[in-house]
This record gives sequence, C-alpha cells and structure tokens, in this order.
Amino acid sequence: MSVSTATGTNTSEIQISVNGRVRRLVLDPRTSLLDALREHLHLTGTKKGCDHGQCGACTVLINDRRINSCLTLAVMHEGDDIVTIEGLGSPGALHPMQAAFVERDGFQCGYCTPGQICSAVGMLAEVKAGWPSHATADVASVRIVLTDAEIRERMSGNICRCAAYPNIIAAILDVVEGRHR
Ligand code: FES
Ligand code: FES
Repeated sequence: MSVSTATGTNTSEIQISVNGRVRRLVLDPRTSLLDALREHLHLTGTKKGCDHGQCGACTVLINDRRINSCLTLAVMHEGDDIVTIEGLGSPGALHPMQAAFVERDGFQCGYCTPGQICSAVGMLAEVKAGWPSHATADVASVRIVLTDAEIRERMSGNICRCAAYPNIIAAILDVVEGRHR
C-alpha cells in the first residue's frame, strides 16, 4: 500500500516474513531489501559491500533462492519468505554450512561470510534441482558432480577480499559429502 504523508513524502507499507517472523514495514518505496533488513529491521548480519551487485556480500535467500539484496527493492517482496544469516542457524544450533565454515576456517575478516554461506546454501539447492552452470560438462545431465571447478563457478558471484577461497570450497565440499548435517 502506498501512502502520501503531509510533507508529500511517499511511503509504502509492506508485510514480509523474515527468518520465520512476519514483519510489517513502512518505508520509502525506493528502499533496497538490503537497507530494509539492515536499517529498518536491524539485521546487520547481511553485509553491504559494493551496493551494486558485484560482491555478493548482501546475499540472502528468498523463497529458498539466493539473491543479491542490494539489487532488489523491499516492496517487491510483499508476502515473500526471506532468510538471512541470522535465520539459518543460531550459535547453539548452527546450520551445517555455518558449522563447516567454522571448522574449515572459511574466512579471515568475515565480512563476506554471511553472503558466502547464504549463497552456498542456495547454490546446493540449485545443484539438487539439476541446474547446470557454465562449468558443467554435460548440461543435459540431471546429476551434477560438484567438482572444485563447479563450486568456483557457481560461487563466483561472492567475492572474498581475504581470498579464503580454498577453505570456503573445502567447507562446501564437507557439506556436500555429509560431514556436517
Ligand atoms: Fe550487494 Fe555487493 S552489496 S552485491
Ligand atoms: Fe574477508 Fe572474505 S573473509 S572478505
């Protein structure tokens, strides 16, 4: 719903589900989902790196699919189910991907890590659904083998300035191979 205030400012009222909780927001319709999460809901686990779709630090899951939250407007997600790094797991009950990143030291400064983890979770769902990537040898095959090259290609939207890539890949492979459940 769009509302004009006495000062002529347009705001929109939306309802979204974030980490299993229904949230109502009144915001400028130009607000990105990233800013809505960080500035309105104070979920600062999701990071702002570039703010224009180049680094992946802002990756969240919407209806189980990964998305750069800086590139989409919050008002476009009325009724959607959004999961951020805070909703994947908790310190006492880590998501398998979070546990694998911790065990494998899949980070240095940690700034890219929430986006890496959300992206990895979304990526594995894409593989399970049989979506090929640029690195897939046989795009007609429904069974994708997650090689090192496949993971690097599929995670190429997530930049790590600390270059923790070998450990990130090791963490993802640990989850693929069932070492964290
Ligand atoms: Fe969204 Fe960099 S902050 S891609
Ligand atoms: Fe520092 Fe990735 S751990 S940017």
